[in-house]
Amino acid sequence: MDRFVIEGGKRLSGVVEISGAKNSALPIIAASILTDKRVIIENVPDVMDVHTMIQLVEYLGSVVKFKRNILEIYTPKIKRIIAPYNIVRKMRASYYVLGALIAREKKAKVSLPGGCAIGPRPVDLHIKGIKALGCDVDIEQGYIVAKSKKLKGVEINLQGAKGTSVGATINVMLAATGAEGVTTINFAACEPEVVDVANFLKKLGIEIEGAGTNQIKITGGNCSCSEEVRYRIIPDRIETGTFAVASAITMGDVEIKNCEPHHLTAVIDKLRETGAVIEVKDKEIIVRGNRPINPTDIFVAPYPGFPTDMQAQFMALLSLASGTSTIKETIFENRFMQAVELSRMGANITLEGDTAVIKGVKSLSGTYVMASDLRASACLVLAGLAAKGKTYVRRIYHLDRGYEKFEKKLRKLGARIRREKE
Ligand code: EPZ
Repeated sequence: MDRFVIEGGKRLSGVVEISGAKNSALPIIAASILTDKRVIIENVPDVMDVHTMIQLVEYLGSVVKFKRNILEIYTPKIKRIIAPYNIVRKMRASYYVLGALIAREKKAKVSLPGGCAIGPRPVDLHIKGIKALGCDVDIEQGYIVAKSKKLKGVEINLQGAKGTSVGATINVMLAATGAEGVTTINFAACEPEVVDVANFLKKLGIEIEGAGTNQIKITGGNCSCSEEVRYRIIPDRIETGTFAVASAITMGDVEIKNCEPHHLTAVIDKLRETGAVIEVKDKEIIVRGNRPINPTDIFVAPYPGFPTDMQAQFMALLSLASGTSTIKETIFENRFMQAVELSRMGANITLEGDTAVIKGVKSLSGTYVMASDLRASACLVLAGLAAKGKTYVRRIYHLDRGYEKFEKKLRKLGARIRREKE
């Protein structure tokens, strides 16, 4: 197993280029099997989750080439309609092939994803959506088995107990491309990744409107695209935010290029509140760290609210604030796993239900810490960059799932970070 060794205390400076959005790439790869035409996707991040999704579509029958962030997918014929447990257990987002297979083949058998480190993650809304489109759905031996003679467009409400769902919105969008007539999704998620998938579907020739609002309308029908479809994925807003916090926490001066600042307004606002100086340009953000770090209160919410995928990184920053901050996590039930590890570095954090109370301390000190999920890993790396002494972040395979060349990009900014085998 790999770990990072970080020698903290170095101010980051220079330029970092942002990769394509992992959470767009995964559903767009799944959506590529909707067509028998060749699909070329640009700006695909070279991360583990993308490789897992490639493995899955290859299993289903796609011919795939992936080189220098360009992914070519060609699926003349679907050979299997099964997403097996041994792939789905590695990555929940495998369930995106459910919607795509139903649309193209009118049947699918997808393993239930099972537990997850950040809390229970049910798939009831996905199932509700495809049932409404006219699928018979059974759970058999841990698999969602869905089949339909004919899918029919319908009005579907996807409001869940925790609000909107990115995954269910996208899965139902994909399934609806194979339905006759118009499907209206109410309480649709508005995240930029949903819009990205919708834009990709438009390239396939599918009529779709409203993506980015709470109501999306999809007109089903065969993909009417020409011989080859080319699409470029949006920049990763969470990677952007992570580098922004990396600059702020190290008193750095970092130019973040190839990003979409307007996808990050809530994050930029909060960073400004903490005292960081931020210059926003067209596809670029410059972040200058400042001391003292002001405390702040964060309320996690679906887009355009403050993203759950950024709260762990902010927890590292707020650990060093000049007062008490709070983070209220409203989306996932168990997403403060980083708090205990941060406390081992000297942070003062108490958890009260869905709220973390962070009393700022003067400094953090390096030690051995263990990553538990993707964003918690990023949080620990950021803490290590600012800590005194050496921090060993273990189990960084979590981080490799979603950050492309993370340590290389940090090193280019002057960080002292290296990867080694345990
Ligand atoms: C996506 O997960 C992202 N993953 C997550 O990113 C992100 O944290 C999350 O959206 C929220 O923004 C991908 O895009 C691959 P949801 P998803 O369905 O789609 C509940 C990262 O670090 N819910 O929007 O699985 C659910 O339990 C990751 O990159 C139901 O109740 O999230 C949660 O409380 C981790 N029933 C809330 O909705 C359902 O059927 C929002 O989840 C589906 C979800």
